[in-house]
Amino acid sequence: MQDSSLQDAVVAVTGAGQGIGRAIATAFARQGARLVVSDINGDAAQATADALRELGVQAEALRVDVRSPDDNAAQVARAAAKFGRLDVMVCNAGIVQVKHFMDLVPADWDTMMGVNVTGVFLSMQAAARQMLGQAPRVAGAPQGKIINLASIAGRMGAGPIAALMAPYRASKAAVISLTQSAAITFAPKVTVNAICPGIVDTAMWEKIDRDMAEQTGAALGQSWQQRIAAIPMGRPQEPQDVAGVAVFLGSSAADYMTGQSINVEGGLVMS
Ligand SMILES: NC(=O)c1ccc[n+]([C@@H]2O[C@H](COP(=O)([O-])OP(=O)(O)OC[C@H]3O[C@@H](n4cnc5c(N)ncnc54)[C@H](O)[C@@H]3O)[C@@H](O)[C@H]2O)c1
Repeated sequence: MQDSSLQDAVVAVTGAGQGIGRAIATAFARQGARLVVSDINGDAAQATADALRELGVQAEALRVDVRSPDDNAAQVARAAAKFGRLDVMVCNAGIVQVKHFMDLVPADWDTMMGVNVTGVFLSMQAAARQMLGQAPRVAGAPQGKIINLASIAGRMGAGPIAALMAPYRASKAAVISLTQSAAITFAPKVTVNAICPGIVDTAMWEKIDRDMAEQTGAALGQSWQQRIAAIPMGRPQEPQDVAGVAVFLGSSAADYMTGQSINVEGGLVMS
């Protein structure tokens, strides 16, 4: 899909040093967008920006820890200083932990919420400060769009690994709720939607599989194989499968959508 509404649009992506964030940044670059990519790993963000420039687009990189209000403000300030505006903010950075419910300590909870919930909140707030003060690129269109990365983990009431991922699941349910609150807060000027991916082939799932092996005695690769065997689409999800929907949500085709959390998971959940 080539969408002319994204030509020269200014798109910022957190956690863009690898995995889904990097794929989303790349997909927007392929539409001709200008990018500001960040990660807590500054070198990884720089490597993503270098790869984006190879595609012929402008790309800025910076180190951002999404838990920091100042870092989030700096990312938006970079977009405004370099490109004059911010059209799409993708709040993608996230972490995962596999630990039994009864073994969790308050620090586990705080770490998870700090990145996955406070981080998304602060990135949205920083983006909205810029977006609410700028004119739309096209008269009558939204002034900006925010896209959050939630998860099917935030939707499922039960599921095979619920006892081992309670904080992660709660954090992603919170992202779905925050998406709705922000959508109401910023309508009609800024749209806010979320994507709920399923079982995506990234470093995050490699960690889940390793931790599951440690926690349950499963063989390495077993948890991954069990989960992907249940996917109706018959294959693991690739980061690009998420990126295509992010591009759609950032494009003019989604101008009338807000407050939605879209499952992109090969048919695993269907809710
Ligand atoms: N992989 C999956 O199966 C899956 C499924 C559903 C949702 N998600 C969500 O998609 C998003 C991306 O996941 P992924 O699989 O690409 O993960 P990943 O671990 O491969 O990449 C996450 C990136 O976020 C960065 N990051 C971590 N903490 C940060 C912080 N405090 N500030 C800034 N950057 C930080 C990491 O350095 C890394 O580059 C996450 O929010 C994740 O929860 C992933």
